[in-house]
Amino acid sequence: MSTDASFVNKNVVVIGGTSGINRGVAEFFARVGARVAVASRSQEKVDNTVNALKELGAEALGFSADVRNQDDIIAGLGHISQQWGSIDVLVSGAAGNFPAFASDMSANGFKSVVDIDVLGTFHVVQAAYPFLTKPGASIINISAPQAFLPMVAQAHVCAAKAGVDMITRCLALEWGPEGIRVNSIVPGPIAGTEGMKRLAPTEEITAMARDSVPLKRLGSPDDIAHACAFLASPAASYVNGVVLPVDGGWHLSGASQLSHTLGELLKAHIPKKSH
Ligand code: NAP
Ligand code: COA
Repeated sequence: MSTDASFVNKNVVVIGGTSGINRGVAEFFARVGARVAVASRSQEKVDNTVNALKELGAEALGFSADVRNQDDIIAGLGHISQQWGSIDVLVSGAAGNFPAFASDMSANGFKSVVDIDVLGTFHVVQAAYPFLTKPGASIINISAPQAFLPMVAQAHVCAAKAGVDMITRCLALEWGPEGIRVNSIVPGPIAGTEGMKRLAPTEEITAMARDSVPLKRLGSPDDIAHACAFLASPAASYVNGVVLPVDGGWHLSGASQLSHTLGELLKAHIPKKSH
């Protein structure tokens, strides 16, 4: 994608932006001239990412926080806003996932994923609200196909990501009148990511995932970054409250078909939990 001057001098915050898809999103915005801040639990990952963003020529900031800790998220976003002013683009993408069958998952395992994805998204968007550019801010929540497609060994993630998309829709209603747009992006299977490592742990399963996508390829972090750039840009100024799959058409049927086979294949890879 060519450099889009519309992000020069824009303040972009990517929560969970220190690895994988979200880091790709952060780096994309850095390449097109935005100031970019990232946050995640690991201070080391934050420092590495901030350095990489600076090497791309961007002004960059970062803070370490767990999205489950509301006070830390409020403090971190407050600091960013104090340094740079209001936030133009907020990408909320921290998430937890592991394959586990409902019959064998502890309540705390289920709760951890719901707490990170749903409560964490709420903490992030609510803490950002006072600092958002009004009108004009764009919030993008990173969802997953599990939000609307039931998948084997993913009851916790399906419940959590469905919650994320309902936060998107409710806040699109509540904050739309102030000129804040709120949308979700649903990535398909993205090559080389932690999510794929966990859900497609072998070459065989990865190849099946690739084959189940109508476009017959896995996605890249840049595919998701380009969709974020669209949703954050004036070109999407009338787009609010959508849940946008960016997945090569995977949601049409491939994801569901794969899920059943995946459940069988994953049995060999999911350790039994005692609880
Ligand atoms: P990833 O590399 O593990 O990225 C997750 C990011 O969130 C990391 O920066 C991680 O850093 C941070 N994080 C995790 N738990 C956190 C917490 N409690 N508080 C704050 N930060 C936290 O995973 P990914 O595979 O790229 O996935 C990124 C997003 O895309 C997720 O929302 C995922 O659900 C979604 N997605 C992924 C795929 C895929 O194919 N990979 C498909 C559909 C949707 P720390 O460890 O430092 O906290
Ligand atoms: N299968 C079943 N249960 C699991 C599990 C697995 N693979 N991994 C963790 N759990 C359970 C734990 O046993 C624990 O439950 P218990 O107290 O009843 O034993 C609960 O989940 C919390 O585990 P813990 O390791 O303390 O959680 P955490 O808060 O440190 O980490 C996770 C959160 C579990 C989601 C962790 O995988 C994580 O940090 N993920 C972030 C990265 C990620 O998932 N990337 C992919 C995004 S698509």
